[in-house]
Amino acid sequence: AQQILADRFGRQVNYLRLSVTDRCDFRCVYCMAEDMQFLPRKQILTLEQLYDVAAAFVGLGVKKIRLTGGEPLVRNNVMSLVERLGQLPGLEQLHLTTNGAQLDKYAAPLKAAGLSGINISIDSLHQQRFKDLTRTGDLHKVLRGIDAAIEAGFSRIKLNAVIMKNRNDDEILDLVDFARNRGVDISFIEEMPLGQITEHDRALSFCSSDDIRGVIEQHYPLTPTTETSGGPSRYYRMADSNSRIGFISPHSHNFCHLCNRVRLTVEGRLLLCLGNEHSVDLKAVLDQHPGDSERLQQAIIDAMHIKPERHHFDLSDEPQIVRFMNTTGG
Ligand code: GTP
Ligand code: 5AD
Ligand code: SF4
Repeated sequence: AQQILADRFGRQVNYLRLSVTDRCDFRCVYCMAEDMQFLPRKQILTLEQLYDVAAAFVGLGVKKIRLTGGEPLVRNNVMSLVERLGQLPGLEQLHLTTNGAQLDKYAAPLKAAGLSGINISIDSLHQQRFKDLTRTGDLHKVLRGIDAAIEAGFSRIKLNAVIMKNRNDDEILDLVDFARNRGVDISFIEEMPLGQITEHDRALSFCSSDDIRGVIEQHYPLTPTTETSGGPSRYYRMADSNSRIGFISPHSHNFCHLCNRVRLTVEGRLLLCLGNEHSVDLKAVLDQHPGDSERLQQAIIDAMHIKPERHHFDLSDEPQIVRFMNTTGG
């Protein structure tokens, strides 16, 4: 019988964010320190273990898995995992969040493997600024990757932009037009205080979703929708376009009461909330009892009891969460 995962607050968990690597070929200024040290290989889960966790969750009623990172496409052999997950009975949606740099090569094989949707980060449409924000990224590669994803015909493509004052807040409308011209969705994200960064002061660069929406509405009146991925994004529509505009507003519009997700870090830590340290070590279970899916599922069921009610991000203080987004898994 299928058991439904639920927490103490009556929220059903039907969505797993599975981080397949903490590594990335970019070093986005809000995500990582410039000299980020990556995890030694022996500390991370094997592809087999990642698959086992995914299968355990699907057996417990999870319908959607999003592969995250770091950058999922830099993990060796990641396609073999995608192919297996694409065949996993009971899994309805398999999505990927990527920086887009390698999509020109991977978009078609990902689609063939059964991936249904892709989210691609793009914070600037200017080459030099894109380089400044990602430290190592090449805008043109990402643009080619976005084209390849559209060409491959995914049922859902969403762009993500983290907007920061005096860094890229003058590009909000250009980014909206970019998404409109391609018929894809775009979400604007408020930066979250994960890990200590040095490039800017997060409190000073904070740009609220309401401010961003105000800029967009001067050109395109927005109508709120009730559409949701059961996640943090609030979506709006424009009258003359199929593109939806999403806002992820961890600071200005708390969405935790709707939370339907948990994340697995590549170290095998099941994180019950992005903004809290509550977690359960599934790597220990996987290492000590390989193949024991019942034990794994029991550990997952038990973990639901410690899912926190909500996050409490505060930009004015030192970040209370020392892990960076790349080790958290978005
Ligand atoms: P779906 O909900 O699957 O449509 O995608 P998404 O927009 O949640 O996922 P994506 O990987 O594109 O992440 C966009 C941003 O949302 C990232 O900055 C994530 O860290 C953030 N995010 C996703 N889930 C949560 C959450 O539960 N809490 C918080 N605070 N942020 C989240
Ligand atoms: N705050 C908000 N979003 C972040 N991302 C990475 N680090 C942060 C942060 N500190 C975003 C990326 C990507 C998504 C997975 O998470 O831009 O779109
Ligand atoms: Fe890499 Fe994404 Fe982090 Fe940028 S935000 S450094 S692309 S993991």
